[in-house]
Amino acid sequence: MTLPTQAIAAKIFHWVNIVSVFIMFTSGLQIYNANPVFGGREGWQIPPIFTLGGWLAGGRHWHFAAMWIFSLNLFWYGLYIFITRRWRHRFVGTKDLKALQKSHNSKRLIYAWHRIVYTSIIPILLLALFTGLGMYKPAQFHWIVEMFGSWQALRIVHFSSVPLLIVFAIAHSWLGKQAGGEKLTESMFW
Ligand code: HEM
Repeated sequence: MTLPTQAIAAKIFHWVNIVSVFIMFTSGLQIYNANPVFGGREGWQIPPIFTLGGWLAGGRHWHFAAMWIFSLNLFWYGLYIFITRRWRHRFVGTKDLKALQKSHNSKRLIYAWHRIVYTSIIPILLLALFTGLGMYKPAQFHWIVEMFGSWQALRIVHFSSVPLLIVFAIAHSWLGKQAGGEKLTESMFW
């Protein structure tokens, strides 16, 4: 049996992405606790175990430092898949959608779902980056704030990256294991 192999660039992207998104996630929840998006200062707080930074300013420092690693990593990965033309076969395509409609092969169906789910991380991350940019520099990117109608709407959409990432992480790791077992999962890391 041939072992699955991944390009070293894909492994580096994957590692840096996991670590930087984890920091964005936990420091974002710290910022959230200073003035919860839902319910204001009386609103429901995130337990400290899930937060990073200790207090509002600490959370902001982490968020804005990891923001550079997170966004530059996404940027060079975008360039990499564009230049190497991997984008043409790496993400979900019509063949997967056709398989979902017609195939009775359970392996093929799982694989199609796996591709749909891992493709979904790209728009999720871009949405977090786009809305985050609007909140980071609201004077320069006022059109981003205006696009969402209000500051509160922009906060809600930015916050939606939290539940989306949780659902993604569960579905992606489960489907990855179903599609290629431990070997495929490990090949993405080592
Ligand atoms: C996976 C990526 C990200 C996650 C999970 C995330 C999560 C969060 C959360 C939960 C909050 C608190 C929301 C609130 O209380 O209004 C927040 C705030 C914020 N985030 Fe993010 N974020 C991410 C990426 C980014 C990026 C890439 C940027 C910048 C380009 C950014 C900029 C901001 C800003 C400016 C705030 C508000 C800070 C403040 O009010 O002091 N975020 N983020």
